[in-house]
Amino acid sequence: MRIAVLTGAGISAESGLRTFRDTEGLWEDHRVDDVATPEAFQRDPVLVHRFYNMRRADAARAQPNAAHRALAKLALRHDVTLITQNVDDLHERGGSPDVIHMHGSLLCALCAACGRRWPAPLTMRSLDLCPHCGKAQTRPDIVWFGETPYHMEEIWQSVEAAELFAAIGTSGQVYPAAGFAQHARRSGAKTVELNLSASAVSRDFDEHRIGPASQLVPQWVAELCV
Ligand code: OAD
Repeated sequence: MRIAVLTGAGISAESGLRTFRDTEGLWEDHRVDDVATPEAFQRDPVLVHRFYNMRRADAARAQPNAAHRALAKLALRHDVTLITQNVDDLHERGGSPDVIHMHGSLLCALCAACGRRWPAPLTMRSLDLCPHCGKAQTRPDIVWFGETPYHMEEIWQSVEAAELFAAIGTSGQVYPAAGFAQHARRSGAKTVELNLSASAVSRDFDEHRIGPASQLVPQWVAELCV
């Protein structure tokens, strides 16, 4: 079966990584406008690097959980496109090949001057020089608010072609990802939401499974792999 899966911060919550909008989420302590826009980076690159250096250190310490590992198993049996909004690498370390990181990756650095990428060091600094063009305009390779998410053409195609679309641990508050379920359903897919609580777009899903991802996802995958 052709399955498109969209994951959000909730799938990594039980690995110890903070989500954005839950109680004690990252956006409680930090204003989006201070750390997650291109303007914020121009204004205060030190603060923005500090925020993502902390995220990178947290992600390096975290381990994939049963939900990440179950999705890797699903890909052994089905034609799975795994799209994540997450910037950690827990899907890869959980065994999933070919993860589409639509919001970028903490593991990657990007030169704002020449557009080239390289593996990010654990700690990035605003005065780091681009290894390609030598300019001190190196930034985390993260898609900020106001920027276009990556791989969108490939993503829309896989959402459109899917027979089953699943959203796991995402609040449905950030577009374009929040619009995938509606698009998948209009294109003929069955849609299922797996989340601790109903998302902002839960009306777009045919089925709702409520609970922690580490329990729900292995169970859902087992049902699809009988
Ligand atoms: P949010 O923080 O908005 O939502 C997390 C979702 O995970 C919520 O719906 C929770 O109910 C759910 N959740 C929490 N713990 C869970 C668990 N153990 N099992 C299952 N579900 C759980 O995170 P995202 O939807 O990923 O973008 O946020 C989308 C984007 O907004 C992020 O990629 C980021 C953020 O601003 C950028 O920074 C560009």
